[in-house]
Amino acid sequence: MPSRRQVIQRGASLLGLAAALPLLPRDALALALEPAGLLRRPIPASGELLPAIGLGTSRTFHVDLDDASLAPLMQVMDTLLAGGGRLIDTAPSYGNAEAVTGALLQRSASQSKAFVASKVSASGRSRGLAQFEASLRALQRERIDLMQVHNLQDTATQLALLRELKAQGRVRYIGITHYREAAHDDLLAVLAREPLDFVQFNYSVAERNAERRLLPYCADHGIATLINRPFARGQLFQRVRGRPLPEWAQEIDADSWAQLLLKFILAHPAVTVAIPATSKARYMADNLKAGHGRLPDAPLRERIAQAFA
Ligand SMILES: NC(=O)c1ccc[n+]([C@@H]2O[C@H](COP(=O)([O-])OP(=O)(O)OC[C@H]3O[C@@H](n4cnc5c(N)ncnc54)[C@H](OP(=O)(O)O)[C@@H]3O)[C@@H](O)[C@H]2O)c1
Repeated sequence: MPSRRQVIQRGASLLGLAAALPLLPRDALALALEPAGLLRRPIPASGELLPAIGLGTSRTFHVDLDDASLAPLMQVMDTLLAGGGRLIDTAPSYGNAEAVTGALLQRSASQSKAFVASKVSASGRSRGLAQFEASLRALQRERIDLMQVHNLQDTATQLALLRELKAQGRVRYIGITHYREAAHDDLLAVLAREPLDFVQFNYSVAERNAERRLLPYCADHGIATLINRPFARGQLFQRVRGRPLPEWAQEIDADSWAQLLLKFILAHPAVTVAIPATSKARYMADNLKAGHGRLPDAPLRERIAQAFA
């Protein structure tokens, strides 16, 4: 029977507020978090809970569709789904990544847990629709959980199409994406005129522009956020290469640089899911750990940013 304090701590951790509560001894915290598992955040449009660590597929899932090439990525997918994760972000422009995602899901006993996000990057309605049909075939699904207009290409036309597909039940949620800070104002302009479920953009210790307007706007208007480039495409690891992890990492239950980077992101209350990409199961397990334990408060977030400055 969990104690009242454990129940409160567990609830707070679900809301991402663990850092705001008095620190518990490590074992007690683990006990408090264990039944709830990975941190989850609601999609404001529906209340559906999503695990806050997902998986990107750009470059890493662009491999041949043979058994030898798929084997290590099967381990990544198994690690994600067995570890309580759900969201996989892919796109028709990522080479074979959609087809690889589809093949891996077909082979997974846990494929029903997956929340699949893809994108449309086409000009004109008929090209957008043809691309969507091809995505369904590649992913081997009849429905895609989230469809996003990729990098704001032909946004008005493609969003109208995605709304039709949503009304037909072939898509559950719709959104828009970009990966450059220079496009954040353009994302905001679309959000101001189109009701959307999700917006995906870049945010990390190295790219903090989203803190100014985009993340607060999403919090105020009930829009779910997907965070791409959480490691600035892996480049952030070069800034700390060869350096030991700081002692204070234990204060937020982190034992890797990747976990510090992801906890920095998850500690922002407007973040729904971070989607780091990896081709390695051990990195997937490492990334999932960031969704457990305490999150940094404001001063600790600045220490994380300073460590990578
Ligand atoms: N416009 C858009 O819509 C857009 C643009 C950019 C990205 N995205 C999405 O966001 C996803 C993530 O962004 P990204 O792929 O650019 O970069 P990222 O997630 O910031 O970085 C990926 C790199 O980090 C490395 N890595 C992952 N976990 C690690 C760990 N625990 N320890 C050490 N290294 C680790 C990976 O190495 P290994 O390869 O060795 O595993 C990979 O090279 C994309 O895959 C895509 O789904 C969308």
